[in-house]
Amino acid sequence: MSAQPYFDEVHAIDDPFGYRSRWYEERKRGVLMASLTRRSFQRGWELGCSNGVLTEALAGRCERLLATDISPRATFQARRSLAHLPHVQVHCAQHPQQWPAGRFDLIVCSEMGYYLGPDALVELRDGVHAALKDDGLLVACHWLPSFNGRASRTALVHERLGRGLQEAFCYRDSDFVLQAWSRTPLSLASEEGLR
Ligand SMILES: C[S@@+](CC[C@H](N)C(=O)[O-])C[C@H]1O[C@@H](n2cnc3c(N)ncnc32)[C@H](O)[C@@H]1O
Repeated sequence: MSAQPYFDEVHAIDDPFGYRSRWYEERKRGVLMASLTRRSFQRGWELGCSNGVLTEALAGRCERLLATDISPRATFQARRSLAHLPHVQVHCAQHPQQWPAGRFDLIVCSEMGYYLGPDALVELRDGVHAALKDDGLLVACHWLPSFNGRASRTALVHERLGRGLQEAFCYRDSDFVLQAWSRTPLSLASEEGLR
């Protein structure tokens, strides 16, 4: 059964997850944005963009950015709030069944992976890894406690997404885990000649 009606229902209101009102969300977004290893990415992709609040922050760091969501209502809200950013495209798509063309040097899967069961996560991982450029960064950020609607534990989501890649960084507190991976070990200090 498609999860689309459920997520459309969730988006019957404008900011269902409190991205614009909650300090928790603003701070988490700030941690994610501060952790990105490049000042600027050529082509980014955010899976499960909801109303586009994180998308807008990512847009400031990407020359081109694709944002996708299963819910037509969410994509309508995201398109409306991102209309002033012509380098951002918002598409309605259900992952892993539907997939965008091309490859990306930044892929962000934030608060979306736990809606998928273990098998779908394997498909998601295969698709995401194929879509990740050789020098790309895959970022995942997920809430730790249990909730209604969770299909996989956050530990499993991150274990599946990161398998076969090198960990670039990891942040964890009692509420969420933020982790990223690349194909080869990453050291900004080395890149900038500090070591
Ligand atoms: C909790 S929001 C995350 C929003 C944003 N990524 C962030 O972290 O601030 C999760 C979004 O994922 C979308 N979603 C859930 N399952 C999906 C799937 N299989 N394919 C695409 N989008 C999905 C939902 O509609 C919802 O808008």
